[in-house]
Amino acid sequence: MSHIKCIGVLTSGGDAPGMNAAIRAITRAAIYNGFSVKGIIRGYKGLINGDIVPFRTENVSNIIQQGGTMLKTARSEEFMTPEGRRAARANMKKEGIDALVVIGGDGSLAGARIFADEYDIPIVGLPGTIDNDLYGTDMTIGYDTALNTIMEAVDKIRDTATSHDRLFFVEVMGRKAGPLALTGAIASGAEAAIIPEIATEVDQLGELIESGFRRSKNSSIVLVAESEITGGAMGLAERAKKEYPQYDVRVTILGHIQRGGSPTAADRILATRMGEAAVNALIEGQRNVMIGIDDDRIVYVPFTKAIRDDKPINRDLMQTVKVLSV
Ligand code: F6P
Repeated sequence: MSHIKCIGVLTSGGDAPGMNAAIRAITRAAIYNGFSVKGIIRGYKGLINGDIVPFRTENVSNIIQQGGTMLKTARSEEFMTPEGRRAARANMKKEGIDALVVIGGDGSLAGARIFADEYDIPIVGLPGTIDNDLYGTDMTIGYDTALNTIMEAVDKIRDTATSHDRLFFVEVMGRKAGPLALTGAIASGAEAAIIPEIATEVDQLGELIESGFRRSKNSSIVLVAESEITGGAMGLAERAKKEYPQYDVRVTILGHIQRGGSPTAADRILATRMGEAAVNALIEGQRNVMIGIDDDRIVYVPFTKAIRDDKPINRDLMQTVKVLSV
């Protein structure tokens, strides 16, 4: 058992449904194991500004079902500077915080890695992002809820697309990564997913029009991952209007609706398991690792690996979308 007495917990970067379930699990698992807990408000910004509150078990009651993050979140430029991190370290000492659990995406975990190395602090990360773009974990917290939101939205768009015989480009989030577009397309029965991971290999728009849409469909839904590489839904719609003027094209950008809402059961369970695992990892003396899930087992993924930005896309899923769009 290490020297840790008090664990600080923060959420950072874009919020994700299930973050509250993770905060609850970390707090309760820490208390169960005899630690004290402090909540840090607005991520690294709060650590720098000393916006820190003691947490008891009642602080995390009635939050498992809530979207967003009760700790609030921010993207902190200051934490990217040595001065910012020095101030953060000073506040940790002042508050008696010996270890941190950071819930966030790649930018947040990259910050955690630098901070942990610089000051030799035990830090464990949880993958909290709707994007599912972190290496070493099958799922990130918030992904399943966002996927369900996309599915429900596309179901509605399909009604009007069918009535009007229209071609819809629906843009989903993903910060330059395709998982939400790809699995969203499968769940909603879309005809194609246009994703950055393969955008330079094939002309996905041309393929779509030439195959399914031109052959047998009067209306079509295409999910597009936000990214400069894909051109986004707007870019593709402009191209489609020029190259295929016979089609009645519309665009929907789902935007931040994908980040909100009550977490699904899958996200609550994932966040709860990962939150408890983060405390266990600290007890075992783990540091500089993200908690991941691999084949339904908890795994420790070194930060350096988790934040690599070349997580491969599941090509079998691309094939599934293609086959089912005939
Ligand atoms: O990383 C989560 C995410 O929702 C991305 O999918 C998206 O690109 C980004 O955050 C949007 O960030 P913001 O809320 O700062 O506009």
